[in-house]
Amino acid sequence: MAGQLEGKVAVITGGAAGIGLATAKLFLAEGASVMIGDLQEGGAMDLIALNPGRCGWQRADVLHEDDVAALIAEAESRFGGLDVLYNNAGYGGTIGAVDALNLESVDRSIGVLLRGVICGYKHGVAAMKRRGGGSIISTASVAGIIGGGAPLIYSTCKAAVIHLARSAAVELAPFDIRSNAICPGTIATQLLSRAFGVSKEDAEPFRAFLAQRAAAGQRIPLVGQPDDIANTALFLASDASAFVTGQAIAVDGGYAVNPAVDHGQREAVAEVLKAFRASRA
Ligand SMILES: NC(=O)c1ccc[n+]([C@@H]2O[C@H](COP(=O)([O-])OP(=O)(O)OC[C@H]3O[C@@H](n4cnc5c(N)ncnc54)[C@H](O)[C@@H]3O)[C@@H](O)[C@H]2O)c1
Repeated sequence: MAGQLEGKVAVITGGAAGIGLATAKLFLAEGASVMIGDLQEGGAMDLIALNPGRCGWQRADVLHEDDVAALIAEAESRFGGLDVLYNNAGYGGTIGAVDALNLESVDRSIGVLLRGVICGYKHGVAAMKRRGGGSIISTASVAGIIGGGAPLIYSTCKAAVIHLARSAAVELAPFDIRSNAICPGTIATQLLSRAFGVSKEDAEPFRAFLAQRAAAGQRIPLVGQPDDIANTALFLASDASAFVTGQAIAVDGGYAVNPAVDHGQREAVAEVLKAFRASRA
């Protein structure tokens, strides 16, 4: 049986680890050719070895427009066009109290988390117009829907990514280009420990601590996995979602269903770190 993405070409930024890597793996299993752009090789080389001729990796920092343009150009020249762009690269951005923010770090955070996505749209749309259509997906976050549970600038950028997906959907519909965002809840990846500034040695226990804590506050008390997001990205990339555009789909175990309900994940960053330290004492 043909896969759901047979014959399609996808570019995934931040595709060498976590959510992006799980998505690259699934897209390949469903028949797509996949070009991964990332700062690191991570798991990409294993995927290339397992999928000869259908998977590539190129160093790309979404902070730099030339890198993003070159990544998309490489997908077009290697695989013949672009059908799916997954703007997924990200990190926790700058942390700290609002009145003590370092504005250079703020610029970098916005550069990766928002400008990097806009840059993907700019070059991805041009390629999709050449192809005659496509699907653009971006990883936003529930932090872009509910305030206070993640670093301030990160949350602000993710809210903007949601609005970008909605607004661009209107402009792009006449070109058969769909534009959607995915809003993950807490997903057990390396981003969590980095976003909270936790040391390398505490990273693994912190991820487990935070994921369990988040799970307890969700309607579905499971620990979110990269595959949960990859499955949603597959839906948005495939023709199964041909009637879906301008949406931000929360994949969060029901966390964002009722923001009025108080639960652990909405605590300020400092309170989460305090609770983690107390759990280790
Ligand atoms: N893990 C979560 O709980 C969670 C929740 C909501 C949203 N997200 C979002 O999901 C996306 C993927 O995160 P993840 O959890 O898989 O994290 P991760 O750290 O496991 O993977 C992120 C990947 O992006 C790459 N990357 C970082 N900065 C980059 C840049 N400037 N240019 C190119 N690549 C870059 C990293 O090298 C890494 O391979 C991010 O946008 C993140 O904000 C994650």
